[in-house]
Amino acid sequence: MAANKVSNSGKAIGIDMTDQMLEKARENAKKGNYSNVEFRKGDIEENIPLENNSVDAVISNCVINLTTNKTNAFKEVFRILRHDGRMVISDLITDTELSSGEVNSEQWCECIDGALTKENYLSCMRQAGFEKIEVLEERAYMDGDKINGRKITSLVIKAVK
Ligand SMILES: C[S@@+](CC[C@H](N)C(=O)[O-])C[C@H]1O[C@@H](n2cnc3c(N)ncnc32)[C@H](O)[C@@H]1O
Repeated sequence: MAANKVSNSGKAIGIDMTDQMLEKARENAKKGNYSNVEFRKGDIEENIPLENNSVDAVISNCVINLTTNKTNAFKEVFRILRHDGRMVISDLITDTELSSGEVNSEQWCECIDGALTKENYLSCMRQAGFEKIEVLEERAYMDGDKINGRKITSLVIKAVK
């Protein structure tokens, strides 16, 4: 999808930490005959495999909530974005965060137990250096049903470096 958005001289670079996802992405790029896309392996909390100030835009769907250190993930995004570059992310947040002892690993992998409150999520972005932050969309996740007693919300946020 990103490859369709960038111009012919542009490039889309997909990042994931698992070989399985990278393999699937490369297969899809091959099927679609895309030559302006490549995939790199990396842990976004540790080191996104891209140079400082090197990309125009970062998009992400339902990944940050899976990380254990959201501020580090946002710091890495901030590092690779050029000045005035933008990040648009879609993610899940919750009304009640869990302590580490309450976390269920399966529920974490389903993007639920690692979710932060909106306040803490935005705070992680600010700590990473983002100042210009705009909430583009906020809506109930899964018809607004509570999951394990907690309200889960889907959020789309734009932040500019
Ligand atoms: C819920 S899937 C979303 C995938 C894709 N964005 C989509 O919308 O279909 C989450 C993906 O994030 C990757 N992921 C989770 N934590 C990561 C990390 N710290 N660094 C890199 N990739 C990570 C997982 O391997 C998985 O492929």
